[in-house]
Amino acid sequence: MKTLHVTIPEREYDIHIEKGILDRGGEFIKTVFQGEKIAVVTDSNVGPLYMNRLRESLTVAGFQVCEIVIPAGESSKCKEQLFRLYEEMLSFGITRGDLVVALGGGVVGDLTGYAAATLFRGIPYVQIPTTLLAQVDSSVGGKVAINLPKGKNLVGAFYQPKMVLIDTDCLITLSERVLADGMAEVIKYGAIFRKDLLDTLTQITEKKELFAKIEEIVYTCCDCKRQVVERDELDNGERMLLNFGHTFGHAIEKQYHYETYTHGEGVAAGMVIAAEHGERQGITQKGTASRLEELLKQYGLPTRIPMTKEAMEDAIQVDKKGQGNILHLVLLEELGKARLVKTQRSNLWI
Ligand SMILES: NC(=O)c1ccc[n+]([C@@H]2O[C@H](COP(=O)([O-])OP(=O)(O)OC[C@H]3O[C@@H](n4cnc5c(N)ncnc54)[C@H](O)[C@@H]3O)[C@@H](O)[C@H]2O)c1
Ligand SMILES: [Zn+2]
Repeated sequence: MKTLHVTIPEREYDIHIEKGILDRGGEFIKTVFQGEKIAVVTDSNVGPLYMNRLRESLTVAGFQVCEIVIPAGESSKCKEQLFRLYEEMLSFGITRGDLVVALGGGVVGDLTGYAAATLFRGIPYVQIPTTLLAQVDSSVGGKVAINLPKGKNLVGAFYQPKMVLIDTDCLITLSERVLADGMAEVIKYGAIFRKDLLDTLTQITEKKELFAKIEEIVYTCCDCKRQVVERDELDNGERMLLNFGHTFGHAIEKQYHYETYTHGEGVAAGMVIAAEHGERQGITQKGTASRLEELLKQYGLPTRIPMTKEAMEDAIQVDKKGQGNILHLVLLEELGKARLVKTQRSNLWI
């Protein structure tokens, strides 16, 4: 088992990473929670696959468990599902001293985390992420949110979990596309902080090898995120580096109405655009974009998504990171080293 300890002001928690840890959920949760009632939120895909094992382990540990299942998919990160969670948790008789567990991908994690942050002005919660994206990104760092019709993640909070339990065996049941989606974020960590991770990923030629090394890979990514979050919990500085590829990626997702491309696919193509821009500016070492592109392709990610420059500029304009005509763009100096650069929107293609 690998453990990371996250230390932020007034909050500390562990991230435990181990194949099969789901079956020991009760045992681990007992170390941070001495109450009785646990509401587990999951989705309609993850529930049938993993809920029985978690329930069994929680029951054996002596907890009283209530299961709440939301429909799988991004559209569940909405106020209707949020209010349903409050209702069901209250019907279960949950109090401020009880616990909420999120068992699922980023959608379950963000929605459940936000419910936990707000019910009774905050009740403790534990993240058990089951997608690669959730394991390396959304479950760590305490950002929780729901969407509004006007945009994604518009209502949210910074609310740290009591513990994160990562069972990398859960990734075996992911579809190829959802796995690749998470790989885009893994490659992002390598690109901005850890060239050695990119070297490891380059050497992997088949899925079996990836799964043999997945614990180590997830650990490396969580460790990167841990360090950034410890230094900049509220996302005012260094944490912005995690947005490498995201300014363009979000624009792509938006242009295609969040239907055609997944987040990771948008970010993959966005990282290549950012690397090429950096090379043109003389900030990024030559050859970086092509090396990144090869690696993304190796993991089944698109690197070129059709979009005109005008459409890209328009879509970027409403990006929440934009300030007037100035963009704070994350650019690479070389693989493994990133920095924030102020750029004029109109200079993006020069
Ligand atoms: N809070 C943060 O810091 C943060 C960071 C990045 C992304 N996010 C959010 O995360 C969300 C995306 O997360 P996601 O990509 O995990 O999406 P998701 O939760 O929708 O999961 C993707 C799909 O995989 C299924 N699934 C989950 N685990 C599975 C498993 N082990 N086996 C088989 N199927 C499984 C889900 O049911 C779903 O259909 C977005 O809403 C995004 O805004 C949050
Ligand atoms: Zn992302």
